[in-house]
Amino acid sequence: MAERVALVTGASSGIGRAAVVELRRRGMAVMAVARREDRLRQLAEETGAAYHVVSIDTLEGCAEAVGATRRTLGPVEVLVNNAAIGSAADASVLDLDPERWRSIMSLDLDAPFELTRLCAPDMVARGWGRVVMISSTSAHAGEPDSAAYCAAKAGLLGLARSVSIDLAEHGVTCNCVLPGWVRTEMADASAAREAAATGRSVEQVWSGRAATYPSGRVVTPEEVASVIAFLVSEEASGISGEAVTVAGGASG
Ligand SMILES: NC(=O)c1ccc[n+]([C@@H]2O[C@H](COP(=O)([O-])OP(=O)(O)OC[C@H]3O[C@@H](n4cnc5c(N)ncnc54)[C@H](OP(=O)(O)O)[C@@H]3O)[C@@H](O)[C@H]2O)c1
Repeated sequence: MAERVALVTGASSGIGRAAVVELRRRGMAVMAVARREDRLRQLAEETGAAYHVVSIDTLEGCAEAVGATRRTLGPVEVLVNNAAIGSAADASVLDLDPERWRSIMSLDLDAPFELTRLCAPDMVARGWGRVVMISSTSAHAGEPDSAAYCAAKAGLLGLARSVSIDLAEHGVTCNCVLPGWVRTEMADASAAREAAATGRSVEQVWSGRAATYPSGRVVTPEEVASVIAFLVSEEASGISGEAVTVAGGASG
């Protein structure tokens, strides 16, 4: 079988980067998309992935990402909607500027919809496709000072369930992955904000986060990436509309 073509957003760091590494290891042709070219170039050199530098927080940016993938690798068969901004400790709803809300929604919820909408016709035409939304345990639990982020992550659950129903007869699955705490740039930034607000060190914030997990540690980007890779595999054809938590046994 020809190698599947995958588009991974937010591929320059953290979970997205780990997903590119894992999908390449499993033989997929991968387009890595983000804004930082130096990071993407290094990833491409390490893995053989293709890359495209674009911000996907607009309709035009989403169309550019899909167009670049189609031109370079072919129609998208696997879409990993991973890019996001704004995790915990952003701003209380009392201080949440509507512009900040809109910018978080543009990337965290609008872009996954738009990319799915753009990629779905090719998947339907092939009678095969995989869409994975990277949501968060925050979708269920809520977090202080992160109304926009939590609303977007909860929105992804509804989006994925509806997409899974709309596309089921065409051999296309759509699922959500809900990571718990993973030590990435985004989560480190929220740890730094929490540390500044509480007078603790960043390491103490991370120890506190780990202590709430039954395993005593947070999960790794690679652990999330292997779940993504399973959900987009041939073997996962019977799983759709699901929300898979990857949090080492923590309820979120
Ligand atoms: N870390 C956690 O604890 C955790 C927990 C639950 C869920 N998640 C979810 O996991 C996913 C990945 O986050 P992460 O933790 O791996 O954080 P990260 O390392 O900060 O990665 C975020 C990625 O998004 C990209 N990005 C940001 N704005 C973009 C834009 N406008 N256009 C294109 N790409 C953009 C960033 O690259 P550039 O800056 O180069 O564009 C980066 O590659 C997110 O959906 C996040 O909500 C994370």
